[in-house]
Amino acid sequence: MTITYRTCTADDIDAVLDLWIRGGEHGSTDTSEALTRRMERDQQLFILAWDGDALVGSLIGAWDGWRANMYRLVVAPQYRRQGVATRLVEMVEEELRRLGATRVYALALINTSEAVAFWHHHGYGPNSRIEPLAKNL
Ligand SMILES: CC(C)(COP(=O)(O)OP(=O)(O)OC[C@H]1O[C@@H](n2cnc3c(N)ncnc32)[C@H](O)[C@@H]1OP(=O)(O)O)[C@@H](O)C(=O)NCCC(=O)NCCS
Repeated sequence: MTITYRTCTADDIDAVLDLWIRGGEHGSTDTSEALTRRMERDQQLFILAWDGDALVGSLIGAWDGWRANMYRLVVAPQYRRQGVATRLVEMVEEELRRLGATRVYALALINTSEAVAFWHHHGYGPNSRIEPLAKNL
């Protein structure tokens, strides 16, 4: 099995939403319009993993000129534990480094032990100085 990696295009948006539903990472903010806007803003930070023409992984990086974030790291269930997420993170980290980022935040859902284990494996640890606060507009 050869997995290939490339940036998201407009034609991929429906497949991305489908992957997030299958991967258990779909929320109320996840619409085609929102994804298209995200993709157009920083296309080089929106990376997808493919097995042929099947979408099997996604990661969105974000860079505001001060801090970086990572969102929606999702690998299709049957492709897990094969290093797909690791490669996605490496690619986004590489691009963030190139842009000048020095600190990256990864948001792991509470009660998702695999996510926490994954991020710890990659050197991301708790930040006791910060409590994430959020509001839906
Ligand atoms: C978390 C997730 C993205 C990991 O993807 P993956 O491609 O399986 O991860 P990798 O194969 O690159 O794993 C790298 C390392 O992370 C750790 N890890 C990954 N999944 C793990 C799990 N289920 N339990 C414990 N450790 C895990 C391991 O140390 C692993 O190395 P190893 O396989 O050599 O032991 C995937 O399980 C997933 O999509 N989960 C559902 C959505 C989700 O929770 N996303 C994260 C939101 S922040």
